[in-house]
Amino acid sequence: MKILVINGPNLNLLGRRENDIYGTMTLDDINASIENLAKELNVEVTISQSNHEGEIVDMIHNAKDYAALVINPAAYTHTSVAIRDAIAAVEIPAVEIHISNIYKREEFRHKSLISPVAHGQVSGFGPESYLLGLRAAVSIANAKKGNS
Ligand code: DQA
Repeated sequence: MKILVINGPNLNLLGRRENDIYGTMTLDDINASIENLAKELNVEVTISQSNHEGEIVDMIHNAKDYAALVINPAAYTHTSVAIRDAIAAVEIPAVEIHISNIYKREEFRHKSLISPVAHGQVSGFGPESYLLGLRAAVSIANAKKGNS
């Protein structure tokens, strides 16, 4: 089983970006922990990051070989109809994840355009959100496989 992990804008700066909110782990550190869990769960992961909305839309369009998506759309969570529509279009189950608890933060972060098309959301567990999201994605994909 293959799972695609997509990271949105500014997440390449993790580790040196607002450490009080996002912690000190770099994206490479987080990716290593995702890879470790993937091995344990016996799934293949592809991990990507882009600062460009259209590139993220293209990644989603090209995800047809993946059983599920784990996506941290970052700032695009709150603005991107294009990413929302791409997820709805491909019909691959998506788990939306956030490092911080977006509902505890500024008002403009309380609204996610992605949640209505995601299978579910994990928000506020620090880098652990990615691992919880991966477990959720594998479980959803397994359930879907069982039903088809
Ligand atoms: C984020 C939360 C977003 O509001 C913010 O724009 C990000 C990161 C998170 O992982 O907590 O860049 O998605």
